[in-house]
Amino acid sequence: QPSADVEGALLAHLNANGEIPDSRAFASSLGVPHKDLEDVIKRLLAFRIIESTDITTEAWVLTDEAKGYAARGCPEVHLVAAIPPEGASRAALKEELGDVFDIALKNAAKNKWIEQGNRDVVLRTVEDTKDELQELLKRVENGEVVPDPIKVLKRRKLVTKEKTIWYSLKKGPEFVVKRKTLATDVTREHLKSGDWKDLEFKDYNYGAQGQPIAIGYSQPLLEVREAIQNIFLEMGFSEMPTNMFVESSFWNFDALFQPQQHPARDSHDTFFLKAPATTTQLPDDYLEKVKQVHQSGGYGSKGYGYDWKRDEAEKNLLRTHTTAVSARMLYKLAQEEHFAPKRYYSIDRVFRNEAVDRTHLAEFHQIEGLICDYGLTLGDLIGVLEDFFSRLGMPKLRFKPAYNPYTEPSMEIFSYHEGFKKWVEIGNSGMFRPEMLLPMGLPEGVNVIAWGLSLER
Ligand code: PHE
Repeated sequence: QPSADVEGALLAHLNANGEIPDSRAFASSLGVPHKDLEDVIKRLLAFRIIESTDITTEAWVLTDEAKGYAARGCPEVHLVAAIPPEGASRAALKEELGDVFDIALKNAAKNKWIEQGNRDVVLRTVEDTKDELQELLKRVENGEVVPDPIKVLKRRKLVTKEKTIWYSLKKGPEFVVKRKTLATDVTREHLKSGDWKDLEFKDYNYGAQGQPIAIGYSQPLLEVREAIQNIFLEMGFSEMPTNMFVESSFWNFDALFQPQQHPARDSHDTFFLKAPATTTQLPDDYLEKVKQVHQSGGYGSKGYGYDWKRDEAEKNLLRTHTTAVSARMLYKLAQEEHFAPKRYYSIDRVFRNEAVDRTHLAEFHQIEGLICDYGLTLGDLIGVLEDFFSRLGMPKLRFKPAYNPYTEPSMEIFSYHEGFKKWVEIGNSGMFRPEMLLPMGLPEGVNVIAWGLSLER
C-alpha cells in the first residue's frame, strides 16, 4: 500500500475517531507492516499534524530463519509438495530441499503429513497442505498481537522477545484531513493546464547548506608553497622580508664574497636595471670591510687579490637569489648588541636571464632556509636537511660536494625519486664562509648553515 494511502487512512481515522490508541493494531487493520505506518507517523509528527505518545513494550519479533519462512513458506510444506503420489526416496528429497531437509522432515512427521516406511521411502498422507505457520509468522512480523500460538514459534525458536515501540496518536495543532502538497517547481504541465495560478509553493530554505560550487580552487604551486611554509613554521623558522625584487649587486654578490669577475654577474645570467641603474644606499664601513676581504682577505683568508670596484657593487639588478636577503638579515643581526641564534626562511621570487624552456622561466620562486648559531657543523646541516625534506615526503637524501662562492663546504642535495627510479637534484646548501660572516660583525664562532631550492623547478 503506498504511503500516501496510509497517510490518508490515518488522517481520516483521526478525523472520525479523534484518536488511534494503538498504532500496531491500526497497522494490522490496514494490512500494512508497522514499520511503514511508523514512517508516515514520523512525517506527520514533524509537521505537527498529529501528536503521539510512545508505548514501549516487549514484543515477539521474528528471527532471521523465521523471516525466511514468512517470505518463502515453511520447509515442511515444501517437503510435502516435493513428494509425488508414489513417494520419494530420502536421498532425492534431501537433494531437493538442501539444508532445511532435517527440519522439514521432523516437522512434517510431527504434523503427520508424511509416513516413513522401510526401504528409505517417504510417502505423503495428505493431498496438499496449508502453510498456517507462514500465515502466523506474517502476522507476527506485522506487529499483530498473536497471544496463543506463539508457543509453537517459541518451541521452534522462530521468535525472540525484543523491546518495541508503538504509538498512541491524536490530532496535532496543525491537523488537516488532507495534507496539501506544496509545489517546488512550475512544470510544463502546470503551464499548459493553468494549474500554476492556484499553486501554493514551498518556502525557500535559507538555512540549507547548498551545493558546493566547483570553482575557485587554489593554484597547485600555492598549495605546495603553503605546505613548505608550514614545515618551516613547525621547525621554528621565522620569515625574512623578501619584498625587494630590485637589489644592488653589493647585497646580491659582493656581501656574499662573490668576486666581481664571477660569470654569474654577466648580463647573460643577471638582469641589470637601466633606471635607476645604481644605488647610493650602501653602508660605508661595512662596504669597506667587504672590499678588503675581496682584495686582500683577512679573518684567516687570502682574499681574491683583485682591485675591487665600488661602481660594480652599486649596480642595480633583479635579485638572482634570495640569499641576498639572507645577507641583509645576517648583517642586521650582527649590528644587534647581543647575538641571539636565529632560524630564518623565505619563499619568494628571483630572476635569472636564462633561455626559457620546459622547466625554466626567467623568474621563479626560491625557497631558502638558514640557521645561525654558535658551533654549528656540517652534521647539523645534514640533520636539518633530512628533517626538512622528510617532512616534505623525501626521506632518502644524498649529498654531493659542490661549489658556491659564499659557502664552504657546499653540498648539492639529491633525493631518490621512486617514480623515476633515480636520484634527482633538489637543492643546494652549505655553511656560509667566514669571509662573508666576519666582515658583517657576527661574533667569532658563530656559524650559519643554509640551503636553497626552487619551488617550481
Ligand atoms: N643561493 C643558492 C642558489 O641560488 C642556494 C643556496 C642558499 C646555497 C644558501 C647555499 C646556501 O642556488
